[in-house]
Amino acid sequence: MPVMKAVRLDNMDRLMIIDQTRLPGELIFLDLHDKCTLVEAIAKLRVRGAPAIGIAAAYGVYVLARSYMGMDRQSFFSVLQQDIAQIRNVRPTAVNLSWALARMEKVLNAGREASLSQITTALREEAMTIDQEDAAISRAIAAHGAPLIEEGTGILTHCNAGWLATSEWGTALAPLYLAHQQGKRFRVYCDETRPLLQGARLTAYELLAAGIDTTLICDNMAAVMMSEGKVDLVFVGADRVARNGDTANKIGTLSLAINAAYFGIPFYVCAPSSTLDPTTSSGADIIIEQRDPMEITHLWYRQAMAPSDVGVLNPAFDVTPHSLITGLISEEGIQYY
Ligand code: MRU
Repeated sequence: MPVMKAVRLDNMDRLMIIDQTRLPGELIFLDLHDKCTLVEAIAKLRVRGAPAIGIAAAYGVYVLARSYMGMDRQSFFSVLQQDIAQIRNVRPTAVNLSWALARMEKVLNAGREASLSQITTALREEAMTIDQEDAAISRAIAAHGAPLIEEGTGILTHCNAGWLATSEWGTALAPLYLAHQQGKRFRVYCDETRPLLQGARLTAYELLAAGIDTTLICDNMAAVMMSEGKVDLVFVGADRVARNGDTANKIGTLSLAINAAYFGIPFYVCAPSSTLDPTTSSGADIIIEQRDPMEITHLWYRQAMAPSDVGVLNPAFDVTPHSLITGLISEEGIQYY
């Protein structure tokens, strides 16, 4: 199956990402060599998807630490801490970003007595561990979710929660990849996912490359597909799952969940435990990232599609209450609500 690493350290120890804003037309790799390129890549969704931004940030801390090794000790710690704080704020909804940075910060602080070179090595190891753990988690999510897929099942998915968004198979797409490998034939309806088209540009690209039967639909077609009996299951990813199971995911997820409940279709959230946030009690406490209005008024910031003076709202995520979610598929298994 053609799975690539969306985020990796290459053999020259450079932090390389696939520039997801260029897909599906071009497969371009970017070297995130300093804080500006890292912050810009996360902010502009060149690297995106909750686990992938956590992994990129973790490797980013290592790359920054390495570049600061010529500094005196005090500056090394204070500059790196400031960088971590700045990177953490780039995307506020996906908890994996602050989760991964907290792990890196812990390693940094544990090295107060060590040499800068030892600390840098420990940071590299921690980032690689985060990456490897995420790969194993995606396999476990695949194993728990694949049995829900039967011969002929119609699956609807939203946004992109595949290998581009994680270290390996993904979250919501991982069970699909495994079921496909097991020889099951099923069809995936892939929401285009306005405004940035992660479904059209990224999920359709991934699924087609894997040879999975894929049909692209506009977001506003989901209800009719359900009413026509084409959808048996909905699988989506998550950016933050609150303690009570309320789930923030890409804008549009909530209306899918409402539609699925109306038509009696099981609705599963697939997420690693790094996306579960024990400090958030319910969805009401989740901060929703607000993005540039031009993402809505202009197609890829070029051609205007709306009057220039129209007011715009552009929340990047919404929160689906746990009452609309059938179950959460994590590496631990399926937790039914
Ligand atoms: O704004 P994005 O593209 O980063 O949003 C991504 C999503 O909403 C995904 O569903 C989520 O991060 C899970 S990725 C495994």
